Amino acid sequence: MLKRNSLVKWAIAATIILVTLQAPKTQTKTPQLGKASVKDVIRAMTREEKVTLVVGMGFTADIPGLPEPSEEDKKVPQKVPGAAGRTHAIPRLGIPSLTLSDGPAGVRIDPVRKNDPSKTYYATGFPIATLLASSWDTEVANRVGIAMGREVRDFGIDILLAPALNIQRNPLGGRNFEYYSEDPLIAGKMAAAFVKGVQTNGVGTSIKHFAVNSQEFNRMQSNSVIGERALREIYLKGFEIAVKESQPWTVMSSYNLVNGTYTSQSTDLLTTLLRDEWGFKGLVMSDWFGGNDAATQLRAGNDLLMPGVVAQTAAILKALNDGSLTDEQLNKNVERVLNVILESPAFKSNNYSNQPDLTASARVTRETAAEGMVLLKNDNNVLPLAASKVALFGNASYDLIAGGTGSGDVNKKYIVSLDQGLTASGFTIDDEFKQTYMQFITDQKAKRPPTAPFMMPAPIAEMPVAMERLQQLAGTSALAVLTLGRNTGEFVDRKVEDDFMLTLAETTLLESVSEAFHAKGKKVIVVLNVGGPIETTSWRDKVDAVLVSWLPGQEGGHAITDVLTGKVNPSGKLATTFPVFYTDVPSAKTFPGREIPGATPLIVNPFAGKPAEALYDEGIFVGYRYYETFGVKTAYPFGYGLSYTNFSYGDLKLSSRKFQDKVIVSVAVTNSGKTPGKEVVQLYVSAPGKKWKNPESELRAFAKTRLLKPGESQVMRFTLTGRDLASFDVKSSSWIAESGSYVIKVGASTGKIELEKDLLVEKSRKLLAPTSELKELESR
Ligand code: BGC
Repeated sequence: MLKRNSLVKWAIAATIILVTLQAPKTQTKTPQLGKASVKDVIRAMTREEKVTLVVGMGFTADIPGLPEPSEEDKKVPQKVPGAAGRTHAIPRLGIPSLTLSDGPAGVRIDPVRKNDPSKTYYATGFPIATLLASSWDTEVANRVGIAMGREVRDFGIDILLAPALNIQRNPLGGRNFEYYSEDPLIAGKMAAAFVKGVQTNGVGTSIKHFAVNSQEFNRMQSNSVIGERALREIYLKGFEIAVKESQPWTVMSSYNLVNGTYTSQSTDLLTTLLRDEWGFKGLVMSDWFGGNDAATQLRAGNDLLMPGVVAQTAAILKALNDGSLTDEQLNKNVERVLNVILESPAFKSNNYSNQPDLTASARVTRETAAEGMVLLKNDNNVLPLAASKVALFGNASYDLIAGGTGSGDVNKKYIVSLDQGLTASGFTIDDEFKQTYMQFITDQKAKRPPTAPFMMPAPIAEMPVAMERLQQLAGTSALAVLTLGRNTGEFVDRKVEDDFMLTLAETTLLESVSEAFHAKGKKVIVVLNVGGPIETTSWRDKVDAVLVSWLPGQEGGHAITDVLTGKVNPSGKLATTFPVFYTDVPSAKTFPGREIPGATPLIVNPFAGKPAEALYDEGIFVGYRYYETFGVKTAYPFGYGLSYTNFSYGDLKLSSRKFQDKVIVSVAVTNSGKTPGKEVVQLYVSAPGKKWKNPESELRAFAKTRLLKPGESQVMRFTLTGRDLASFDVKSSSWIAESGSYVIKVGASTGKIELEKDLLVEKSRKLLAPTSELKELESR
């Protein structure tokens, strides 16, 4: 027995020796990612391998004129069809490929796969970012982030290309719907909460588009000419908050130039500020086909070029050969890519189900959508509604616009329309009238020219309804609900006529519905199914209530009904101003910029547009900062929104009247009405404004109460730090709070804090200064 045992042992040992001897040397010596150190893995890479790692792949949309994908791209089957891109795998070093997918309102992938038509891969269409921001509740953004991140994980994706947090500089910005707010504090806080939510699932995010990318016009070669103060206080601040508070795995640089330099080629932006000053640890990727000099992008700290084209690989190798790009720099870029890969589900070989819990996500969608809807008008408490017979008007009532188009679109399984939402909650809708609408919508859609990939379909005009029919419906229904819808999407900015303004068909419909229903003493409620502000003052007096539902995601019809019926008491507030006239907008004259005649194109491709320039000459006076300071009346101001109850505010309590390093402000908020509700509490600070021309006041903190019962109170606490008092001083490139009195306002309650001496809060460095003189707006 003993003998046999030792024989077996001997045989095993001999086999091990033999196998080891026979194994190719490379297999034992080649460092493997995760087993060897990242530095060792990089040392083992050839230059060509390194370059494959920083030049991505995987953009499969067949758009004539775009650079050809590489041979490998065509050969290697996509792991997740419809994802926006991926990185190259290097199997010999144990480096897997990362899959990257859009976007801010949900995972954008193909719902049906050619190789497997028996299954579907629908993702959830969540509410747009503008709606999430209007909740003024970071928990709402966090909840959506958690749910969306679960779908990212369940579909085997590594990085979600979201959130997008550019400033809604002008209501016509084509991608405003993907962005949060005109205010950087809201944008930054919402983005941070969203990032944390997504990343709890072990997947990454890409905060985008860094930075000053607030328009679509000529977006790949438009130069945003902007002053340093506006840059820091308005356009970079949200990113700064998101980076510092949530450490996103990646940042996506933007398409545009800032003061003459492509953001993806700006060392100032991507290295000096983002990494050295803010402490960003992840990788920076370019926006798709963005920038025009691959080697400069890598040198600036833009580590990954997406989606990667053959010419970039060649350009990088050439730059390495001629010494204009060093191996040391490339190693840095590669290291950052590898560090993200090490965290990724792809590297961890996580199993994924391809079957996310769509029911759970639908619940999140419905609940969060209701949290961000904003009630603009509610005369004589016409809302909330009891179930009744409703006459339902407007194409969008039957064909709800759940989200925007372009990369922020989502292939969702269904959209709950408003008629379905109302019916499910016990309302009666005239079926014959509904059928007339459905037929009209189908016919009009069939007549539309085909839409190019990613582009927004042409809107269809409102269905005209004869006065007799209206009178008949007014006789048989308890009230009218009219939905006005706006498509919005990537690639194009909105326009004033027939978009910011109502179309003639909409005005006619609204006026005749109002006339017919009011003649019979019946109320008219308008739902704005829009991605951003529209004109309201010319028509709002003709209706009794106005609810902004935004683009509420796939459960929209239910969520709107929840608010109309009071199942959810509206608590959303505008995070973007509704101006009276478009001409009142501070950037109305300079948005979206002008083409530069005769300029040599910087990029040539079908989406590149022409060389152009946008002068951000309103400076820091964006949105409410302008309207309040310059006394310009708005239709509905920033921070506005009604509730079915009322709230009262107690006196402000300050931890100290003298500011040292912080002040704690507290205030009791009481539900003084008759219905349970939540209140958004907004804290504004007015700076002394001696040294700098400051806005009348600026939002420095916000929070939402819990659901308060009638009579119930909650004490809200906010901490103000030096940064909350400071302005960016261009001369010294630092954040300074000047001495003097600071007035704090929360609701109607105010308080004052004193700062004895000027306080240097943070020293920065001069960067991205305008290269030519920019005459900026100054306060009166
Ligand atoms: C958009 C990005 C998007 C990318 C990938 C670009 O056109 O600007 O926001 O993530 O495409 O789809």
